[in-house]
Order: sequence, then structure tokens, then C-alpha cells
Amino acid sequence: MITDRWDRPLKDIRISVIDQCNFRCTYCMPAEIFGPDFRFLDKEELLTFEEITKLARFFAGHGVEKIRLTGGEPLLRKDLDELIRQLNDIAGIKDIALTTNAMLLPKYAGKLKEAGLKRVNVSLDAIEDEAFKKINGRQVAVKPVLKGIAAAKKAGLQVKINMVVKKGMNEDQILPMAEFFKQEHIPLRFIEFMDVGATNGWKMDEVITMKEIIEQIGEHFPLEPADAAYYGEVAKRYRYKDSADEIGIISSITQSFCSSCTRARISAEGKFYTCLFAEQGYDLKDLMRSGASDEKIKSEIKNIWLQRSDRYSDERTEETVRGKKRIEMSYIGG
Ligand code: GTP
Ligand code: 5AD
Ligand code: SF4
Ligand code: SF4
Repeated sequence: MITDRWDRPLKDIRISVIDQCNFRCTYCMPAEIFGPDFRFLDKEELLTFEEITKLARFFAGHGVEKIRLTGGEPLLRKDLDELIRQLNDIAGIKDIALTTNAMLLPKYAGKLKEAGLKRVNVSLDAIEDEAFKKINGRQVAVKPVLKGIAAAKKAGLQVKINMVVKKGMNEDQILPMAEFFKQEHIPLRFIEFMDVGATNGWKMDEVITMKEIIEQIGEHFPLEPADAAYYGEVAKRYRYKDSADEIGIISSITQSFCSSCTRARISAEGKFYTCLFAEQGYDLKDLMRSGASDEKIKSEIKNIWLQRSDRYSDERTEETVRGKKRIEMSYIGG
């Protein structure tokens, strides 16, 4: 295990496998910017499965046990189950998870589970069609997402739901979503709208805070705090007093959690980032393709983590928010 300057161990890696998505969520890939002329990565620019697996093996050698695959939308990457199979064979990797909008789960859930995937976190920001269609930018109704969730459950995958909450977009969906997923016995996590990237026009007064969310739900369904499930868990969990079901809140804006941040991120083109809000990554693809030895790559990864000092959410100010070079969420994954 290696730790950074603030004593934070490197425990999990989040690997983006593609920068494209079949949605255009307004808070993540606004259609005005990610339109027909937007240049996504070409196939040759993406890390191959062999390269991803090689890197994951180096990270596992440094003590990483958990891998999350992200996008864009990771299920748009062809033969993803093959990658999962390769990652699952790495000694030390105990947990492989996926972040997805669920549209392609009816097609792939069984194959993914068979390959070794354990869990999926599904992004769904509303339970009513009208609101959801406005948010996803592609006029997609809620039903196909629910079908994807059902397929995941049927295949034996653990499922959680992620809902980004933004004022004027979906705060009226907080309670209907809580009610729906309580009945389904699926954990729902509310995410404070964040200033990731440089294109989503973030403003503080559009954030619905953790406090407001807890109060709103608590008025209808009394809640009690639950203990963290693991060190560095980003969601603060609450249990309903009348059932075993739970919700979580990811409060990166009003209660940041940088002091226990254990996450490394790798973009689809092989850049290594030590923070979601980073402006620059270290090009591991270039290093690999230039023929560097395994020892060299492994020691570069270690050095980068040892030097790491990121605490963006702890240090957020009006000035940092205006920084314009930050990587996009759709590029680095959640
Ligand atoms: P589990 O492994 O299921 O506990 O997943 P998780 O809680 O890490 O959740 P997930 O990967 O689904 O992340 C949900 C959302 O939390 C992301 O899409 C981001 O919006 C936010 N998030 C996750 N990790 C970080 C982080 O390190 N920093 C910040 N600021 N936000 C994060
Ligand atoms: N704020 C918070 N979370 C975001 N996501 C994307 N954009 C944002 C944002 N601006 C996260 C959501 C979604 C995942 C793919 O990315 O959690 O589920
Ligand atoms: Fe796609 Fe997820 Fe971004 Fe929506 S939030 S555009 S589903 S990557
Ligand atoms: Fe980690 Fe950066 Fe998020 Fe802080 S802002 S929790 S350092 S990824």
C-alpha cells in the first residue's frame, strides 16, 4: 500500500473505457458543446484491453483491490465483458464495479456478471418521464432504465442508483425517487451538483444541499445515520427507521471528503489523474507505447501518488470554480 502527502492510501482505481455517451445529460454533456462537431477520441487513441489490464496489474501491485469502470457510457465499448474477465484474473482485485446509465443492461447484464462484474451504479435523475427527458437530452423515458435495473438484478448484480440533484432541474423528484427506490429496496444516493469540468455552467445557488435533502426526506420517512461501509466511502449513509432500506448523500460541495480520498483515475486515452478536478494527467499510454519497462511504469505510478496533494473540494472558492481547464466528467468518468 502506498500513501500520498496527506497519508491517503491508494485503494481504488476508476478507469474510463470510452469518452462517448448515448445520453446528453444537461449537467454533464450539454448538447450545445457535445454536438455533432465535438471531437471524441478515435479508436487508436483508446487504451486497448491489454493495456488497461497491464496498468490495473501495476495498481494492484501497489495495493489496489477495487476497480470501477466508467465512461462516458462504458457499455458503448465493444466486448466490455472480455475486459472484465481479464481484470477479474488479476491477483488482489476483489471488487469490480461499473457506472452506467443502464440503457444497455438488458443486453449485457448476464454476460457482465458471468465475466466477474459484481456491481453496477446506475445514473437516474428522475422517476417521472417529463423531468427525465429534459435532463438526459435524448428524450429517453424512464422505462428503459428501469428495465436495465431489473436486468442487472436478475443477473445477480448488486445495484445502487445515483441521482444528481440540481435546483430548477429535478428537486421535485427527490421524494418520488426516494419513495420508489425504498419500495424496490435499492439504495439511492443523492449527489450535490458539482463544478466538474468547464462546460456545465455551475453556480453555487443551483446546489441543493445534503441538509436540504435529508430534511425533505426525513419529514416523510424518519431517518437515522448509518456507519460508513468502508474507509473513504464518499456517500454518507442513512437508514429509514421503519425498514432496512437506506439512502446516501454525496456532499462534495457542502461537506467535502478529500481527507479520506483514496481514488486514482485513468482516462480512456490512458492519462492518470489524482483528482476528479485535475487539470492535467500523466500520460501512461505514451509511456507504455514508448516501450518503458514494467518496473519503470510501476515506479512512475508510485511516484505520482507519493507526490499527490490534491484537495480540490476542501479548497473550493469562487476563483477555483472559474478555472477553465478542468477535465470533463464525461471524459474521466464519475
Ligand atoms: P461505491 O463503490 O458503490 O461505494 O461507489 P461510489 O460511492 O464511489 O459511487 P460512484 O462511483 O457511483 O460515485 C458517485 C458519484 O460521486 C460520482 O459520479 C461523482 O459525482 C461523485 N464522486 C465519486 N468519487 C468522488 C471523488 O473522489 N470526489 C468527488 N468530489 N466526487 C466524487
Ligand atoms: N455533478 C455531480 N455528479 C455528476 N456526474 C456527472 N456530472 C456531474 C456533476 N456536474 C456524475 C453522476 C452520474 C455520473 C455518470 O457522473 O453521478 O451518475
Ligand atoms: Fe452520459 Fe452519465 Fe454524463 Fe449522463 S451523466 S451524459 S449518462 S456520462
Ligand atoms: Fe478526491 Fe479531488 Fe474529490 Fe477531493 S475533490 S475527494 S481530492 S477527487
